[in-house]
Amino acid sequence: MERQNSVQSTKTGRLFIILGFSCLLLSVTFGLTASLQYLAPQLFVDHLSFQKTRPLHVFLAINWLFACISGLVYIIIPRVANRQLFSGKMAIIHLVLHAATITIVVTGFFLGHFSGREYLEFPPWIVGIIIFYWLIFGVNFFKTLQPNLATAPVYIWMWCTGILFFIITMAEAQLWMLPYFNTNIIRDVTVQWKANGSMVGSWNMLIYGTAMYVMEQVTNDKTIGYNRKAFAFYFLGLTNLLFNWGHHTYIVPAHPAIKQIAYLISMTELLLLANIMLTWTAAFRKRPVAEFEITYSFLKTADVWVLINLILAIAISVPAINKYTHGTQITVAHAMGATIGINTLLLIGCVVFVIEKQLSTQAKKKMNLGLKTMHISLFFFWLSLLAAGVTRSSGIRNNLYFAEITERATPFLRVFSASGIFLVVGIVLVAATCIPAIWKFEIKA
Ligand code: HEM
Repeated sequence: MERQNSVQSTKTGRLFIILGFSCLLLSVTFGLTASLQYLAPQLFVDHLSFQKTRPLHVFLAINWLFACISGLVYIIIPRVANRQLFSGKMAIIHLVLHAATITIVVTGFFLGHFSGREYLEFPPWIVGIIIFYWLIFGVNFFKTLQPNLATAPVYIWMWCTGILFFIITMAEAQLWMLPYFNTNIIRDVTVQWKANGSMVGSWNMLIYGTAMYVMEQVTNDKTIGYNRKAFAFYFLGLTNLLFNWGHHTYIVPAHPAIKQIAYLISMTELLLLANIMLTWTAAFRKRPVAEFEITYSFLKTADVWVLINLILAIAISVPAINKYTHGTQITVAHAMGATIGINTLLLIGCVVFVIEKQLSTQAKKKMNLGLKTMHISLFFFWLSLLAAGVTRSSGIRNNLYFAEITERATPFLRVFSASGIFLVVGIVLVAATCIPAIWKFEIKA
């Protein structure tokens, strides 16, 4: 029975990761279509306009993150706990419900059914299912791990926090249904952004925690999960998860204290920045064990994107700057820079950790090429969004007409679409190697 649960855990984990990659490939297809619609708004306007391609792209991108991280946790926790998965059946139910939810929501979007609030544009009964399968996931996780938090490494704290706060924030994001919130626009927008901002913090906890575990394994440095600095940064991350969402609502006339706290907390990220700068060279000198070279390359490339995104995030958290960047492509650069450069690269790195020993030299070359293509094209993709955002912001300040702003931004949007094509090529190269390898991956018990 125990051995069965362990095999089940790996099988379900593999299927989750394949589900994740399927979401990613579909997501970038819609993303590419949406980027072409920036340049040609009439493209597919009758059946697949920007109003549909954008939410399809974003919903699938977010589900790539959640499906892949769930799969990795199922594969990793029995190893960490040194115990079989508590319930293989619960893992299957989680997988089936997650896949069914994606199918229902995507079909609904195609048919033009949108409800709820931005990023969660589906009806409350779907939210009920999502919370239900996360509760199942949570129970299975805690029962398998039975964590003793007093002695647990930091990544266990991060997984626990991520699961707990996902459930809390998903429920909180539904508060708009209560008259106390939906009859007051300030309360409504504030609570919506509070929930969304903290939900991003919850998936970051899950992904960073997994990456930290993988880093510990590939460098064979067992101190990574226990040192004081790691815990200090965990608490810094938790404080940001709880309070820094306020920088999303600077333009909302809510209580000034909300903005002041958010600003102060956002600035504590400067400590993170200083830490990256100080440990930069040392970290790059730390070599991985030989069989994990590719895993290490993905994690280190994500580190470069942590630095780039942190500088942008700190800049746009300053109210005087946020006033000009809000609602422009600069926010999109921030969102995609983080979800692609940090989250996606870390997740792929962790998937590679699982399969790397089974990869042929040819497959490793393909992975390296995919990573380089992603990294370089993402840089132009991100810069072009920033440039388009700056153009838009200055156009609005100078009271230009929308058509004129669009014309000025068009060269940057062309670079955005072109680099987006290369980004997709990089992602396809990586996915084409990971999917068959993870499909064949077997547990070595
Ligand atoms: C791993 C791959 C990707 C992830 C995780 C991702 C994630 C996201 C996220 C989270 C947003 C919402 C941004 C916001 O609300 O501010 C977004 C928007 C968008 N993405 Fe992506 N993206 C990916 C790849 C791509 C690619 C390859 C393209 C195009 C070639 C693309 C085009 C777009 C467009 C056009 C938007 C809408 C921006 C707007 O609202 O004006 N994305 N993406």
